[in-house]
Amino acid sequence: MSRPARALLDAGALKHNLQQVRLHAKRARVMAIVKANGYGHGFAWVAQTLGESADAFGVSSLEEGMQLREAGVTRPVCLLEGFFTVGELPLLSKHRLEPVIHHDGQLKAILQASPMLKLAVWIKVDTGMHRLGFSPVVVSEVVNQLRSDSTVAGIRLMSHFARAEFPDDEVTRSQINEFTSVSRNLELELSIANSAGILAWPSSHLDWVRPGIMLYGASPLVDKNAERLGLKPVMTLESALIAVHARKKGDAIGYGGDWHCPEDMPVGVTAIGYGDGYPRHAPPGTPVLVNGRRVPTVGRVSMDMITLDLRSQPQAKIGDPVVLWGRGLPVEEVAESAGTLSYELLCHVTERIPRVVV
Ligand SMILES: Cc1ncc(COP(=O)(O)O)c(C=O)c1O
Repeated sequence: MSRPARALLDAGALKHNLQQVRLHAKRARVMAIVKANGYGHGFAWVAQTLGESADAFGVSSLEEGMQLREAGVTRPVCLLEGFFTVGELPLLSKHRLEPVIHHDGQLKAILQASPMLKLAVWIKVDTGMHRLGFSPVVVSEVVNQLRSDSTVAGIRLMSHFARAEFPDDEVTRSQINEFTSVSRNLELELSIANSAGILAWPSSHLDWVRPGIMLYGASPLVDKNAERLGLKPVMTLESALIAVHARKKGDAIGYGGDWHCPEDMPVGVTAIGYGDGYPRHAPPGTPVLVNGRRVPTVGRVSMDMITLDLRSQPQAKIGDPVVLWGRGLPVEEVAESAGTLSYELLCHVTERIPRVVV
């Protein structure tokens, strides 16, 4: 028998979540964001599973784009950080990958490239995220330069939200206004909505939406959980009990010895830990499911094990199933307990954890 830690991947949930995107943004096309290895789910698997039901895919690099092509993905693929060196341009053209252009160096490189390349590009506009993109004041000039360049086979505009997860937020409203006003009269397709935009800001849907976290079944919104939003978790991270001990009142559990049993109690050990991607900072009390029912963790998270308070399940035994997050236990809840985000938890699940499609 092999180590029981594994990540179950629910293809039906992934497809369902894409349908939810389409229900919210009926007229927009959908660029499914599969960077960071498909938020830890395996980007080729995500892209193959969604297939033609997504209109495009978003990745971080040429290498990822080429791997999608090798995996048989035929839809347009956008490189969200663009290209990093001029030497990438012929490969972008060969594999029909669409770079984001977000600074002058990239613009110059495109303008000097061979007209044979025929690249479709996305121009990134910085409307308030202040990470990547051209200032709105230069956008029409950038568009004009690219329009008159025969290397360029198509132009679209993209921007990105800084805080759309907060309802009725002034910054988000101003980002939408800035983006729509800068693009007025340019007659280009537009995209600004991430998952939070799709769910909470209908006026941001425009021509293309770019869902990431909601495809994977987690809520991006501060005030609504995934279930309420009709989303289903794609990944269920699971393991099993590999030891159960009757401990005495006062026994110190695990590294540092700083968690003590408040009474005689059963303590379970499950085979998963921070070396697998479970957050080391998850404090005692973080929920897990044993036999489908919640129990709290105790002590510190080890590299490959976690200790569990089994007082509510004195009958639990070696081999019983443990769920760390996913079906029955939202990843957002674990993330909140560990002081992080569902995004980070999902994409930190290591390659050591077998992905099993269900
Ligand atoms: C440019 C861009 N678009 C879309 C997304 C998807 O965001 P989310 O996962 O919040 O839907 C991301 C992810 O960070 C991104 O960087």
